[in-house]
Amino acid sequence: MMTKQDIFDIILFIILLIVSTLLVFEKTPTHTISIAPQRVTMNFHLYAQNLTINGTVDPPCNRTQDIYICSGYCPWSNTHNDKLIACSFLPRILHPDFVKLRIYCTPEPDSCPTYDAWLKDTLPPTLEHIKRIPYSLYANFTLDFSIPVRYGLQNFLTDDILPRNWTNEEIEKYRMQLQQRMNYGLNKNKDIYLALDKYASIAVINKSCAVIGAEYPWIEAALLEYNASMVTTIEHATIFSNVTRLKTITPRAFAQKQQSGTRSREFFDSVWSYSSLEHDGLGQYRDPLNPYGDLQTMTKIACILRPGGFLFLGVPLNIKDHLQYNLYRLYGPIRLPLLYRYFHIVEVLGATVGKDIYSNEIQPFVVLQNKVGCKRS
Ligand SMILES: *[C@@H]1O[C@H](CO)[C@@H](O)[C@H](O)[C@H]1NC(C)=O
Ligand SMILES: *[C@@H]1O[C@H](CO)[C@@H](O)[C@H](O)[C@H]1NC(C)=O
Ligand SMILES: *[C@@H]1O[C@H](CO)[C@@H](O)[C@H](O)[C@H]1NC(C)=O
Ligand SMILES: *[C@@H]1O[C@H](CO)[C@@H](O)[C@H](O)[C@H]1NC(C)=O
Ligand SMILES: *[C@@H]1O[C@H](CO)[C@@H](O)[C@H](O)[C@H]1NC(C)=O
Ligand SMILES: *[C@@H]1O[C@H](CO)[C@@H](O)[C@H](O)[C@H]1NC(C)=O
Ligand SMILES: *[C@@H]1O[C@H](CO)[C@@H](O)[C@H](O)[C@H]1NC(C)=O
Ligand SMILES: *[C@@H]1O[C@H](CO)[C@@H](O)[C@H](O)[C@H]1NC(C)=O
Repeated sequence: MMTKQDIFDIILFIILLIVSTLLVFEKTPTHTISIAPQRVTMNFHLYAQNLTINGTVDPPCNRTQDIYICSGYCPWSNTHNDKLIACSFLPRILHPDFVKLRIYCTPEPDSCPTYDAWLKDTLPPTLEHIKRIPYSLYANFTLDFSIPVRYGLQNFLTDDILPRNWTNEEIEKYRMQLQQRMNYGLNKNKDIYLALDKYASIAVINKSCAVIGAEYPWIEAALLEYNASMVTTIEHATIFSNVTRLKTITPRAFAQKQQSGTRSREFFDSVWSYSSLEHDGLGQYRDPLNPYGDLQTMTKIACILRPGGFLFLGVPLNIKDHLQYNLYRLYGPIRLPLLYRYFHIVEVLGATVGKDIYSNEIQPFVVLQNKVGCKRS
């Protein structure tokens, strides 16, 4: 015979069971919520050409003057009278993972950037931590629900990064490591030597180089060690440099300079960027929330790199696309071709493509050549 107390206990037990089950389910989703891919059949290259900044799309590619329009001006000027120039591209060295993922896609017939990427630097900064992707931007961030999102650990820089001073002493410290060929850089590996040893003579020695996004001057030091004639760091944080042959500028100031007239335009022989673009537009560093921040930065790079010039780009590569909001994007078969769309892929140096979608550590230097401004042969 069950007493009232027994029945009460059983009910209590059932209630506790339900509550604890709910708690478990309540807890896990905040780390694993992901939206299953829904639409993957669209043509992303066409889609990408309609991306807007500040609500507008740039006019379509206009080649009646025999130039490519890039961010409001033609990418190659002064010495060449705004004409396309002939470029030579290094042969591709196939990477098995890229072949498998079909990232060596047929180049687009028209590789003209179609939006004013410089505007991205005039968008307002993110002043408070935005913990979820705003509903109105969800489709933009996920390329129409094709890229899964995961929320988990987040980060927000509550203060501006202090102005930093880069000194010769700091650079010398890095140069010593390079001379001893120690494991080097953000991920403490030897990937950068592969790039420097093979490409120094065509991309570094006596060349003008730019570094996009840099917390510490490790790439800068490497370029100086390999005798770059000038290194320019373009970075949101204010950095003072009194290092010989090393200049720093913010993206906004740089954009203004580029647009202020033909004479102030600058073209680099090579551009270097490591572990920066995957954060672009996620707001973590108080940067403007911008679903296409990375793609727009690539457009800007195409505009400041001479036609045929080299981009050494490190972003996390993965067999699957993924957005770990607000920390980083993992680039896979969906977004990577968009990222590379104005570039000829030469080769992947170092590590391969990651297979763990919760890790952003596989970031080989991928060697790319700028197709913008190049005459098609
Ligand atoms: C791009 O925009 C044009 C004009 O609004 C539209 O006709 C076209 O369908 C769009 N293309 C894609 C792929 O969204
Ligand atoms: C963005 O659009 C608004 C409204 O059209 C305009 O007032 C503003 O100047 C634009 N911002 C930039 C940077 O073009
Ligand atoms: C292309 O640009 C030139 C110069 O701005 C202009 O005269 C021409 O009408 C434009 N062509 C098209 C098809 O928009
Ligand atoms: C997001 O996508 C929608 C629909 O394509 C578009 O109207 C809107 O301008 C986009 N927003 C941004 C910030 O790009
Ligand atoms: C950088 O150097 C300036 C003087 O050259 C100094 O006032 C400032 O405090 C330094 N900043 C840092 C972060 O060391
Ligand atoms: C680099 O420039 C310096 C000074 O102009 C010159 O002496 C040197 O031969 C150049 N090196 C190469 C590899 O072109
Ligand atoms: C850089 O220049 C120094 C001094 O001229 C030279 O000893 C060194 O071999 C050069 N390094 C490279 C990679 O060219
Ligand atoms: C560069 O700045 C540091 C401090 O920021 C200072 O100690 C050093 O003397 C400066 N070097 C030169 C060459 O001005």
